[in-house]
Amino acid sequence: MENIMPPTSRRQQKILERQKQEATNRKQKTSSYVNQAPFRYAERNFKSRVPPPDYSKVVDLHHYDSKDPRIVKISLPNKLVSPFFREQDYSAYLLNDIPGLIIIQNPFTDKAQRHFIRECLKVYSQAPNTSNLDTHYTIPTEGLWNFYEQENRGDLGHDYCVPRKQVNNSTKNGYDSSSSESDEKPDPLPVETVPLLPPSQLIYKMRWVTLGYQYHWPTKTYHFDRRYDVPQEVDGLTRAVVTAIEGVGHNGWKNTYRGSDYRTEAGVVNYYQYRDTLMGHVDRSELNMQAPLVSISYGNDCIYLIGGTTRETEPVPLRLHSGDIIIMTEPCRRCFHGVPLIIENTLPSYLSPDKNHGEDDWELYGRYMSTSRINLNLRQVYPLNADQEKEEN
Ligand code: OGA
Ligand code: MN
Repeated sequence: MENIMPPTSRRQQKILERQKQEATNRKQKTSSYVNQAPFRYAERNFKSRVPPPDYSKVVDLHHYDSKDPRIVKISLPNKLVSPFFREQDYSAYLLNDIPGLIIIQNPFTDKAQRHFIRECLKVYSQAPNTSNLDTHYTIPTEGLWNFYEQENRGDLGHDYCVPRKQVNNSTKNGYDSSSSESDEKPDPLPVETVPLLPPSQLIYKMRWVTLGYQYHWPTKTYHFDRRYDVPQEVDGLTRAVVTAIEGVGHNGWKNTYRGSDYRTEAGVVNYYQYRDTLMGHVDRSELNMQAPLVSISYGNDCIYLIGGTTRETEPVPLRLHSGDIIIMTEPCRRCFHGVPLIIENTLPSYLSPDKNHGEDDWELYGRYMSTSRINLNLRQVYPLNADQEKEEN
């Protein structure tokens, strides 16, 4: 009887109002789950294990269907030439719904793919380049992969673990006197709770390495005063690609960027294990947003979502295979994209650890790649005419 009486005190009334509000919030939450932005909806679809994803809309150029109205096949205006590519005439693929996106199906020789995978794992990850592990661990200067090889040969103490970074008092207070430009958002602090791991396990926790201008993730800006060389052969590769796609266009867009104006100034190497994903985002930190962004896949296949300038556009899901190159030219540079799924057991046989491919050291790399995908993501940061200004400063 008592609880159907109208509330008497202001306090009771407030409580009832709050409960009502919470119920409304809950309702809105579930309905926004149904009406979520199309990009998020697609991400959820491909992240789902039970039920399994709906693959019906996936564009897979390995099964190219010339009748698919979404895809346009063209021949490249300029030859695609590099010592790492097979010598042949290449086609490129464009998507009617995504102006500016250009896809080149794996032009690499098998050997060149193995070469770049080695470089990504063993060489590009070494200091002074930064990796996600540097926050918490003191990686030996020879690089983590070298230590992994030593462990594998039995040359390290059998319980050797990579040391954790010391947490000292100045960093504990959230104040790192060595960081000048990032006062508002300092680099993440090392924590004592990360697990101590041997190289053979820590290597699987490497998620990214930055090349060239080092990227400051908390503020999403480049450290313009912290620049290392982008490996020359990577720059050679991207320039060959940017040159080959000069003048490519379709239905009102045209890539006019000149290969001779392209400089590979920054890069991210992304390392994915099976369950890793990359959330939808736009790369907008580069001062030169006109220059194409070149993105190369190695290892297991993935689903790559490419949408519009907001999450309200339904993205096209692309299945990318080892060696595939996608180029985001001007209009597409501002589009949301992400990787919601690495597709298991899709490592091509030329990367398999079970064969040595005439290369004695491949087994360990092949073993790593059996559960991995690597992405080389390459960007020009500055407009070309900024070169002069930089030198004058
Ligand atoms: C990125 C990116 C996509 C990929 O590093 O910004 O979008 O294919 N990577 O891993
Ligand atoms: Mn990106």
